[in-house]
Amino acid sequence: MDHSARKQKLRACLPAVAPSMLKCDYGNLQHQIEQLADDGAHVLHWDVMDGHFVPNLSYGAPILKSLRNRTDLFYDAHLMISDPARYLDDFLSAGCDAITFHIEAVPEPLDLLRRIKAAGVLAGLSFNPKTPVSAIAPFLRETDLVLLMSVQPGFGGQSYIEGSAEKMKELREAAGPDVVLSIDGGIGPDTISGPAAAGADLYVAGSSVFGQPDFGVAIREMESLAREHGPAYQN
Ligand code: DX5
Ligand code: ZN
Repeated sequence: MDHSARKQKLRACLPAVAPSMLKCDYGNLQHQIEQLADDGAHVLHWDVMDGHFVPNLSYGAPILKSLRNRTDLFYDAHLMISDPARYLDDFLSAGCDAITFHIEAVPEPLDLLRRIKAAGVLAGLSFNPKTPVSAIAPFLRETDLVLLMSVQPGFGGQSYIEGSAEKMKELREAAGPDVVLSIDGGIGPDTISGPAAAGADLYVAGSSVFGQPDFGVAIREMESLAREHGPAYQN
């Protein structure tokens, strides 16, 4: 699949909940992915942590790669690592559809964004709660996806930071309509409406999916709130 086919594949499912695999049952990974697909998920959000950029470790490219031929779901990789350029080829060959890294790790991100796009993959930039929209604004034209952190990255299960919807609004105004905007951290039925009204497209959700007995009910509830409060989609 090339860059534009991937873009279309993602656009076609918006607004969407992207279950954060950080909160899944790792002993049952393949089954959980099948369950998510049966329950209507379109996107898997993979949180990669190196114990350096964030104070936690999770998993790396080999795990993503070994599951790649078992699912067609869109692979949305979120690299919370200090040196994403060093591992880029591993994540490309693992079959990621979008690769997002942090502006705090790579203050001059243009080369890396271009390398990702040249490989036919969507290029994403993320920024922490304390980093202003103005820090990523100069790079928006080269970015397919922006991931706004609504918690400090590193752990699932934290509380949504109030004010993230206002930041999302500012981001949407700066990014224009074509960049996919994602929000990550503390997203659930109680918090999704604010960012939806502010123009978000993609909602990363860990605890509010995996903490529920029925993933499908949780995903559908959040997606219908996102549709109700968010922009109208043509798909
Ligand atoms: C945090 C991760 C998130 C996190 C979301 O560093 O990027 O994707 O797992 O989990 P919840 O939805 O529980 O905040
Ligand atoms: Zn994430």
